[in-house]
Amino acid sequence: MLDYSHPVCARHYSDEFFDADIPMYLEHARRSGAPILGLGCGTGRILIPLAKAGFRVVGLDLYPSMLSVAGEKIAQLGESTRKRISLIQADISHFSLKRCFNMAYISANTIFQLSRREQRKCLECVSGVLKSGGTILIDCESPSSMSTAQECVGMLSRFDDYPEDASEKTAAVRSWITCVDLADRRMKVRTEITEESSDAKVEKCAYSHTLHWFGRIEMERLLSECGFRTTRVYGDWDMRRFSDSDHRMIFVADAIIANRAQ
Ligand SMILES: C[S@@+](CC[C@H](N)C(=O)[O-])C[C@H]1O[C@@H](n2cnc3c(N)ncnc32)[C@H](O)[C@@H]1O
Repeated sequence: MLDYSHPVCARHYSDEFFDADIPMYLEHARRSGAPILGLGCGTGRILIPLAKAGFRVVGLDLYPSMLSVAGEKIAQLGESTRKRISLIQADISHFSLKRCFNMAYISANTIFQLSRREQRKCLECVSGVLKSGGTILIDCESPSSMSTAQECVGMLSRFDDYPEDASEKTAAVRSWITCVDLADRRMKVRTEITEESSDAKVEKCAYSHTLHWFGRIEMERLLSECGFRTTRVYGDWDMRRFSDSDHRMIFVADAIIANRAQ
């Protein structure tokens, strides 16, 4: 877990280059069509491949630091791809848009960063902007994966040292789980970032985040209460059917509220 509001974390987010989930989003984009809404789009890791494949996309993210890295990446694309991408700074648990979408996605555990109330608010907001029959994908780790986190409390889960960048600073990011509450499905993570400039000046900051995870039934119920019908749950990005031992849980749900925009 990084602190996405911090420029060091935003700059190095893309270093964690993982792309195994992208074919799944492309496949669903082909089925649903554009436009597509990326919630918590970050540095555009998924948004950009979708735009390159010809889909119009809108990405929402709370943090200017992440959006600015996305903007730099987008600026390097060809004009026609660039024109298919819009970025908006917004809280995904509190937004409204004039446009309607055929597909929306919340990738890479982003949903866990929202409190229970915000998770509901987020799905209500998405429900307001998806066309009838439009699809939402929510990708997160499953309860079986989160339970193993309990064994890791207090252990460093991340320690990255970044070499000097253009501002001649070195940076170190350390994070670890400080608490896992299995009954309440909450986990606390602490991240410390230390930056040292070439004149040995050291700046430190620390953040604590709570992650809120859930079980399959809980999410299906929430989706239903927010106007969606879950059509599939995958156990991984290869789109195989979810089983309890799977470490990922990917919900695919269709918008069913009759009076939404067409
Ligand atoms: C795990 S990253 C995922 C980024 C990107 N979707 C991906 O898959 O690479 C989570 C992203 O959600 C954003 N985020 C967290 N809380 C948010 C909120 N309330 N509203 C909008 N964005 C949020 C963070 O800034 C970060 O970019």
